[in-house]
Amino acid sequence: MAVCFCRWRNLLICLCTPCILLVLLFVYITLLVCLTTPLTSGTTSILNIDHFIAPGTHRNEGWAPSPDRFWEPHLSLGVWNLLQLSTDRSINPILRPYKHSRLPDRGANGSRDPRPAGDPPGSRDPVPQLDRLAGDILEFARHMHKRDYPVVAEPQDACGAGSANDHGRALLLLAIKTKVQNFKNRQIIRSTWGQAGWVAGQRLAGGGYVRRVFLLGTDRSRDNSTAWPDLVTLEGRQYKDILQWDFHDSFFNLTLKDVLFWRWFSRGCRQTHFVFKGDDDVFVNTPALVDYLSQQLGDPGTAMKSFMVGDVIGAAQPSRNNKSKYFVPEAFYAGSYPPYAGGGGVVYSGLLTKLLHLVSKRVHLYPIDDVFVGMCLLKLNAYPSHHPAFLTFDFPGDEEMKPCAYHKTIMVHKRMPDRVEQLWARLKESQPLCWNVTLREDKLKNKP
Ligand SMILES: *[C@@H]1O[C@H](CO)[C@@H](O)[C@H](O)[C@H]1NC(C)=O
Ligand SMILES: *[C@@H]1O[C@H](CO)[C@@H](O)[C@H](O)[C@H]1NC(C)=O
Ligand SMILES: *[C@@H]1O[C@H](CO)[C@@H](O)[C@H](O)[C@H]1NC(C)=O
Ligand SMILES: *[C@@H]1O[C@H](CO)[C@@H](O)[C@H](O)[C@H]1NC(C)=O
Ligand SMILES: *[C@@H]1O[C@H](CO)[C@@H](O)[C@H](O)[C@H]1NC(C)=O
Repeated sequence: MAVCFCRWRNLLICLCTPCILLVLLFVYITLLVCLTTPLTSGTTSILNIDHFIAPGTHRNEGWAPSPDRFWEPHLSLGVWNLLQLSTDRSINPILRPYKHSRLPDRGANGSRDPRPAGDPPGSRDPVPQLDRLAGDILEFARHMHKRDYPVVAEPQDACGAGSANDHGRALLLLAIKTKVQNFKNRQIIRSTWGQAGWVAGQRLAGGGYVRRVFLLGTDRSRDNSTAWPDLVTLEGRQYKDILQWDFHDSFFNLTLKDVLFWRWFSRGCRQTHFVFKGDDDVFVNTPALVDYLSQQLGDPGTAMKSFMVGDVIGAAQPSRNNKSKYFVPEAFYAGSYPPYAGGGGVVYSGLLTKLLHLVSKRVHLYPIDDVFVGMCLLKLNAYPSHHPAFLTFDFPGDEEMKPCAYHKTIMVHKRMPDRVEQLWARLKESQPLCWNVTLREDKLKNKP
């Protein structure tokens, strides 16, 4: 009896030991591979997003995928690069599944710690060298870990000002970045291209419901005069389209508006098909945009994809001229920028907004907002599509003078409020003449 038991035990040991060793080896190799693969591959397998090319535009071969980690060659240099590298390493797609891993949320207490990497337990961020930075970039770097600023004012309706009839299924939400003092811009937008409610298309018989929200920070420079905040609160009550957070509204803080808007959208706007995010100094041909988006909706599956369309800037480099508004020193960021859509006006799907909200938790805030959106998109392994009807840098040559020029565009930057009013009136006047024009196309691409 005992002999028999022993034989069986030996057999079991003989058979199982190699199996167990093989399993251990497999686990070891898997962990090794996961720890060294960049984050993108992990996210891709989970979200499975492919590169989407907007119909109606030329195929954007010009924006070939850039390397997954565009900043890598110079990673020893910049503060941002170092922080992002350590975050990428600490987020492991298998050990820590996608939804649970995120940047350490440091701001919860409203801490104004001048050391951004005041490491909470578990964070592996290095302490970056802030002494090489100066001016606005230093100010940005000091606060770049905090992103959960409280809401000061928000629309009563869950998803911005709109019409009672749209039953939450708006085609488009206009999310417009503005400043407290730009009251005139907001008023003109409300009465021209930013009208909420049903908007008829320019060309097609249909149309779509449009909602509107303005994104604001607070104006710290006027803190001691109470007149401005009061006016914005009143404005919010009147128009129900003010979404304001308690952070200082500066150029480098604009990225916070994206991040906080995505969070707000993910909570209350589940049904909205598309988002137009733009500045308050642009002119938008909303009827043409509504047409374009209705066509995308008709294309089965488009709204489900990571749809982003705008004026795409590929292979840009950070500005190293310290007189420029966009100046970013090498000590903060080294490397080139990923492809991104110019921030004057860009359109993306509601689904992408929610994905951006999730993935943005793994990307350190960047002082230039449209570049930050490009970085998040790259993390999703998606790319923006270029459409020549988005004119971030105005009309080329004398094209603006040609008949129906504005009917052929979706967005033109930059136009001051009085001009916007004039252009809107003209757009309506020339509608009988121009309604059937098609959107702008790139001249180069039209050559046979
Ligand atoms: C967090 O905030 C609470 C109350 O606002 C305060 O008592 C606490 O000391 C803060 N913790 C840290 C780490 O700052
Ligand atoms: C605001 O503060 C500045 C200096 O801090 C002061 O000179 C100015 O008079 C104040 N304005 C008002 C309206 O209190
Ligand atoms: C961004 O906003 C925060 C909170 O108001 C402020 O402390 C910080 O100085 C701002 N950053 C810049 C670059 O203006
Ligand atoms: C800007 O750069 C120039 C040349 O690189 C330098 O001489 C100057 O001190 C810089 N100015 C500031 C404000 O950093
Ligand atoms: C509108 O344009 C299309 C082609 O772009 C053309 O086929 C159609 O006849 C035009 N309709 C009118 C009423 O001009």
